[in-house]
Amino acid sequence: MAAGDSFYVATPIFYVNDVPHIGHAYTEVAADVLARWHRQAGDDTWLLTGTDEHGQKILRTAVANDTTPKAWADKLVADSWQPLLKTINISNDDFIRTTDERHETAVVFFMQKLYDAGFIYSGEYEGYYCVGCEEYKQLDDLMETPDGDFAGQLVCKIHGRPVEVLKEKNYFFRMSDFQQKLLDLYESQPDFIQPESVRNEIIQFVKQGLDDLSISRSSFDWGIQIPWDNSHVIYVWFEALLNYITAIGYGSDSENFERRWPAVQLVGKDIARFHAVIWPAMLMAAELPVPRRVFGHGWLLVGGEKMSKSKLTGIAPSEITDTFGVDAFRYYFMRAISFGQDGSFSWEDLSARYQSELANGFGNLASRVIAMVTRYRGGVIPTPGEFTEADEAIFATAIRATADADAAIERLAIHESLAAIWTLVEQLNGYITLQEPWALSKDEAKAERLDTVLYTVIRGLGTLAVLLSPVIPDAAGKLWTAIGGHGDVTGQNVRAAFDWTGEPAVTPLVSSLFPRIEQVDPGAAA
Ligand code: MSP
Repeated sequence: MAAGDSFYVATPIFYVNDVPHIGHAYTEVAADVLARWHRQAGDDTWLLTGTDEHGQKILRTAVANDTTPKAWADKLVADSWQPLLKTINISNDDFIRTTDERHETAVVFFMQKLYDAGFIYSGEYEGYYCVGCEEYKQLDDLMETPDGDFAGQLVCKIHGRPVEVLKEKNYFFRMSDFQQKLLDLYESQPDFIQPESVRNEIIQFVKQGLDDLSISRSSFDWGIQIPWDNSHVIYVWFEALLNYITAIGYGSDSENFERRWPAVQLVGKDIARFHAVIWPAMLMAAELPVPRRVFGHGWLLVGGEKMSKSKLTGIAPSEITDTFGVDAFRYYFMRAISFGQDGSFSWEDLSARYQSELANGFGNLASRVIAMVTRYRGGVIPTPGEFTEADEAIFATAIRATADADAAIERLAIHESLAAIWTLVEQLNGYITLQEPWALSKDEAKAERLDTVLYTVIRGLGTLAVLLSPVIPDAAGKLWTAIGGHGDVTGQNVRAAFDWTGEPAVTPLVSSLFPRIEQVDPGAAA
């Protein structure tokens, strides 16, 4: 991308039937890292997230809690979902709720447009419905359970709960019209769906043929009314997908809409079909551009299964951040899991990576270098003498790491970006071991060499602060201040991280960037 280009990234909007777990936080952090990276590269960046508040699932949860769906949603948003963003340091530019008036108005506008263009008709539908998924299911999506509470019943493969048979007079969207157009899209824009595994699955699915989609419900009223028939509300998914455009001014602020759209969309692979099939078909029907990309990331697994609240494997993000801190949370999930694949979460792995990569690898490097500049040079970052091959090798690594990290972010390979940045951490540690600044400090004749060595590692550290700021903003900010970096680290161009500038003075770190953690509460792993 060229600096200044629009970069709009959106997360799915989350159901407010329950509190967030680390699976939700995972999507948020990934989107946030991309947004921070692009912002720091000078791109015209926008990060959107929000909540999905209509539909039967929320209605039932509210009823079960003796309250109204709106009151329930307000409570969950204020007590759980907004605070989540603080807990994991998300820099979202906007937060959309599907109960926002701006959303409802633009949804009505969109629906009317599709209706007037002949893409919506009324008909009748009978099928199996999973309220957990808020989706009609095909037999393939169901299984019979031999034992347990639901023995002998047909249950949803995702939720493990019985489906309901629904028969309704509904409005339908002519999705079948879009089969070939979608296949053409997947072919002409090969990175429209990523990763490859999700892309293949979607293409297979669409090739089998698309049914028209039932897009209204009349058996309950918690939703946005169909503009021409107020006895129906719009199917929750159909309406929720529109958040990506209603939030940026579709139907009300065309200048902003054109400035931002299309978006890069991150979604869990379980909801990739909605985003890569229904969503682009809706947009095509309204003659709007399709998303730039739909990336279906993998699942966080706990004990080999998709972590989920309903299966009681949900882990609250604060359980991790309370012990390890926000930066470690963000780093761990971005580094340990290949973005696009499933990844198993374990406290042991988190703890081990914290210790070896963050505390020893990076944090210790920063403390040692700053302490040496303080001790040997009174806190003044020295002017270097002549560079040797070893110094040049550090500079070359810093420049390569920057380019590789940026290229990886462009491919949405966040883990590879971190791996590229870490080559510099490792090389700096090796450099210090070999150059032995503590030995140089004992020999006056080697004063100039010591100057050069200290200068070289500080240049490397500054580059790291700039490159790591999107992932570990707090630690990067502290390091930046400690090495005298000019301004705020978030204002440093990440695509030219090596060219950073600062005052030639260090300020000792008040505490380690990643302090030693004595004991991880084993109870937390339960
Ligand atoms: N409300 C819909 C999305 C509508 S977007 C127009 C929804 N909400 S959700 O709250 O159930 O899930 C939101 C996201 O969290 C999905 O992308 C889902 O894949 C993700 N995750 C839920 N559990 C997860 C894991 N265990 N691991 C990784 N991501 C997970 O679906």
